Amino acid sequence: MEKTDVIRNNTKMKHPPGLYLLFFTEMWERFSYYGMRSLLILYLTTSFVQGGLGFSVSTGAMIYGLYTGFTYFTPIIGGFLADRFLGQKLAIVVGGAIMVVGNLVLFGIPGHIGLFLGLALLIIGNGFFKPNISTVVGQLYPEGDKRKDSAFTIFYMGINVGSLIAPIICGLLAENIFAEKVNGAIVQYGFKYGFLAAAIGMILGQIIFVIFSPKYLGHIENKKVEKKEKVVEKKPLTKQEKRRTISIFILAAFVIFFWAGFEQAGSSLTMFAEKLTNRNVLGMTIPVSWLQSLNPVFVLILSPIFAKIWFKLANREKGDLKVPVKMAIGMIVLGIGFLVMVFATISVGNTENPVAKASMWWLVITYFFNTTGELCLSPIGLSMVTKIAPAKLASLLMGIWLASTGVANILGGFIASNLESFGAKDIFLMISIVCIVLGGVLLLLSNKISKMME
Ligand code: PHE
Repeated sequence: MEKTDVIRNNTKMKHPPGLYLLFFTEMWERFSYYGMRSLLILYLTTSFVQGGLGFSVSTGAMIYGLYTGFTYFTPIIGGFLADRFLGQKLAIVVGGAIMVVGNLVLFGIPGHIGLFLGLALLIIGNGFFKPNISTVVGQLYPEGDKRKDSAFTIFYMGINVGSLIAPIICGLLAENIFAEKVNGAIVQYGFKYGFLAAAIGMILGQIIFVIFSPKYLGHIENKKVEKKEKVVEKKPLTKQEKRRTISIFILAAFVIFFWAGFEQAGSSLTMFAEKLTNRNVLGMTIPVSWLQSLNPVFVLILSPIFAKIWFKLANREKGDLKVPVKMAIGMIVLGIGFLVMVFATISVGNTENPVAKASMWWLVITYFFNTTGELCLSPIGLSMVTKIAPAKLASLLMGIWLASTGVANILGGFIASNLESFGAKDIFLMISIVCIVLGGVLLLLSNKISKMME
């Protein structure tokens, strides 16, 4: 047995400490991102007198979609700049610092100026941060290391620990602690304190990263090393590298539709929770933003189960399920989730004039399906990109992978902005059908795409 095999077998599930550093850094960054985001649609659509910005539902959903969309476009630039000039680790710090300022602007500057300036800074900062931290996870392991998938599952759990606590804390601050109430109804929200919490989370993540990265990520390549390899960089892509790159593009095109549905969480599903869902539990009204914690809750519950399933499948005699097959299953499962929402809207009757509010269980079940779909598709996608992308394009292709999420968010915002004109039921039904059909198409194409990835 080769020495590396021995290491692999003995330490099958043991990971380098750098992974846990990245876990906590990303946990705080996602805390910041999802904390701010859980309030955003409410901040945009709440009336001015109640502390919001008073946009209509359609304008609010559009701004929301453009913001979340552009957040995932800038990673192309951030990934490129990191590959070429900055190095991943510096890019993470630069991006993090910009995002801190962005959240502080939202906290400190009220009105439209604060909104647009803050969002712009968050978009730029995320571009530096998000693709590069994911790439560094991949770089912790040598090529072909079997621990990579499990590393991404752990990293994904970090993402979701942050995403879980964020809406709870920011929601409590904005809809409870700093909200003024009269007879239980909110007359004034405390949104800015939610944004402040988002800034503080980001600062914590950056402090952890700056202190510990020299020790635990010191061995990861940086710009100076890359310079020596300029010769390699000039070589054109081989045929195989080209095919792999194309397969990333094809899969990215499919997942756009998955994420456009999935990302309804912060927009149409949140508005459904606000207006059409009975949120009273044991005499307490659950803050709207809290329901956005359901997705991360399910990620954390289901991830260990998925890790076992993937492990079993990988060790079957027939071999593992192909990546495109897993992704196709993810799309179909999301489609089923939105079918549940169709029934939720039916239970409400006329959505403009509801006879009764929907039970919260509908959203719980939908988030369960959506998360199951996510776990079939998302961590596997990230890990796949770091595995098959040509080394010199690693961060750039990660950026492109994230950009497909960006396109999806803009599309998702556009879909949500039609919530009132089309009606919730038709919107949810359309998402469901599109995802199930495209999932079927991807299943049919899976053999071809898998061949290209080899
Ligand atoms: N919850 C995931 C995250 O914030 C969703 C996501 C996956 C976003 C992949 C972008 C790309 O990381």
